Amino acid sequence: MTRIRAAITGIQGWVPPYILTNKELEAMVDTSDEWIMSRTGIKERHILKGEGLGTSDMAAEAVKALLEKTGTNPDEIGMVICATVTPDMIFPATANIVCDKTGIKNAFGFDMNAACSGLLYALVTASKYVETGTVKKAIVIGADKMSSITDYTSRETCVLFGDAAGAILLEPTTEEVGIMDSIMHSDGSGRFYLHMKAGGSVKPPSYETIDAKEHFVYQEGQPVFKFAVTKMADVAAEIMARNNLKSEDVSYLVPHQANLRIIDATARRMGVGTEQVMINIERYGNTTGGTIPLCLWEWENKLKKGDNIILAAFGGGFTWGSIWLKWAY
Ligand code: UT7
Repeated sequence: MTRIRAAITGIQGWVPPYILTNKELEAMVDTSDEWIMSRTGIKERHILKGEGLGTSDMAAEAVKALLEKTGTNPDEIGMVICATVTPDMIFPATANIVCDKTGIKNAFGFDMNAACSGLLYALVTASKYVETGTVKKAIVIGADKMSSITDYTSRETCVLFGDAAGAILLEPTTEEVGIMDSIMHSDGSGRFYLHMKAGGSVKPPSYETIDAKEHFVYQEGQPVFKFAVTKMADVAAEIMARNNLKSEDVSYLVPHQANLRIIDATARRMGVGTEQVMINIERYGNTTGGTIPLCLWEWENKLKKGDNIILAAFGGGFTWGSIWLKWAY
């Protein structure tokens, strides 16, 4: 029997127009362009401005452009997963709101909360529905309005994050392309180092939680850095080894963009050169669910059918993982 794989058949990114530069941040907190560039590799990030706008608005822009560029009728979409840690609301799912804003009426959808690894988790989940023939066309979104949970008086975190959305179209194929293998991990004991303290069922919002600034990202940078460097490099090396992929077989590494130093360490471990790594952290910062689709979108014109691509991510949870895919067009 011919094996059906799930292939990426379209990719689209969207970033809001407003650009927050390191220079502007220097006026807001005690930081410097030199510190931010040398420790993170970030020069600027895009921020969604405007009353009443949320993650679904960015995601809807990406999805509408994706449908248009791939000539896909919204009625054909059977599934939408939105990877996000900044949903429009705790419920309903942002995926449902995006469907409403883009005219997708025949899909079921839900959100995926796996922080910076969310896009990979969502891609693997959707691929199973496509591989089994349950869904013919799936959309996987990675979108976050990180500015909505960032404390712009905290120099430890406010320099790191940006807002963005990316959307991926997945379809079945019988060719030797598409998602070839994946390895996903999580370890909830890492939650203490990277989380949002209030707003959930343990600590519902109150005047006290707002006064204590507990509705923002809390991160202990160094422990997260140590885990991220090790786990992201380990999992990328593991997926190469178990598929007998040598560094020269890999066309591109697409790493989650949290810190240029973590990206460099992962690339070194895989033995791939800088020209084989998609890096755009300088212009967008860490956009959580958005980083990997933003990279694929920006590199789309350079990709060739059959290119071996390794996606790798690490994030809050802790969650981490890697996907090996062969580009399909
Ligand atoms: O997205 C998925 C998960 N997240 C990550 O993968 C992020 C992992 N962590 C990191 O990328 C890094 O730990 C950070 C970029 C967050 C921080 O870099 P670091 O080299 O680990 O810095 P640090 O936290 O050890 O801080 C070093 C110093 C401290 O000052 P003292 O105590 O040495 O005097 C900080 O207060 O740098 C200070 N500092 C800053 N200085 C200027 C922290 N943030 C800033 C800042 N500007 N923005």
